Amino acid sequence: MKPKIDNIEKPKIQLRPLSKEDLVLWDQWKSYVDFSAYQTHLFPQGFAENRMEDYLIFIIQADLEPIGAIWFDEINYSKESAWLGLFIGNPDYWNKGIGSIAIKMSVRDMFINRGLKSICLKVREKNHRAIRCYEKVGFEKYTYHEPEKFGDGSFQGWFEMVMKSQELAN
Ligand SMILES: CC(C)(COP(=O)(O)OP(=O)(O)OC[C@H]1O[C@@H](n2cnc3c(N)ncnc32)[C@H](O)[C@@H]1OP(=O)(O)O)[C@@H](O)C(=O)NCCC(=O)NCCS
Repeated sequence: MKPKIDNIEKPKIQLRPLSKEDLVLWDQWKSYVDFSAYQTHLFPQGFAENRMEDYLIFIIQADLEPIGAIWFDEINYSKESAWLGLFIGNPDYWNKGIGSIAIKMSVRDMFINRGLKSICLKVREKNHRAIRCYEKVGFEKYTYHEPEKFGDGSFQGWFEMVMKSQELAN
């Protein structure tokens, strides 16, 4: 059963690399949230095949508690681009600015330390929370895809969004 987390004020957000011991967390998070309503992937592309050169994945911590994951996949250093995915595994932590902070921290690293110029992502049109979170950070919608059926049975369109490195200062 999901523990109720009260009084989440301003937790200290940190990102750390994934370790093997973290994988059990996915079972816990999947018991808290029906992720099929929000996303298609819960791991970066290439994770199952162990193509570690293609992705980076981090655990999001709030006051040292692991609460979710954020990753970049299809990292292409010659095109200076990558794709972003993330989730927070306990809804008690949603809408508290944590997703925005985790994205800002990690895209900054990708732009400044790894030389990327653009980060893209895919989001369903009904995922208003996620879209708002991405727009706050500096992502913009650039392509709309016509409605299709998703894993939760919903039929909806989806957007590709992009953030360019020039947006970082904002
Ligand atoms: C998407 C997710 C990572 C965002 O992280 P988060 O910490 O909840 O996001 P933030 O708090 O930084 O931003 C959410 C914003 O959406 C707003 N919001 C919430 N519900 C909303 C709705 N129905 N319509 C519009 N805006 C909404 C919040 O008020 C907040 O904006 P504000 O800061 O201006 O008030 C997290 O909610 C999550 O894991 N959701 C489930 C999985 C998922 O959707 N993953 C992404 C798939 S693309």
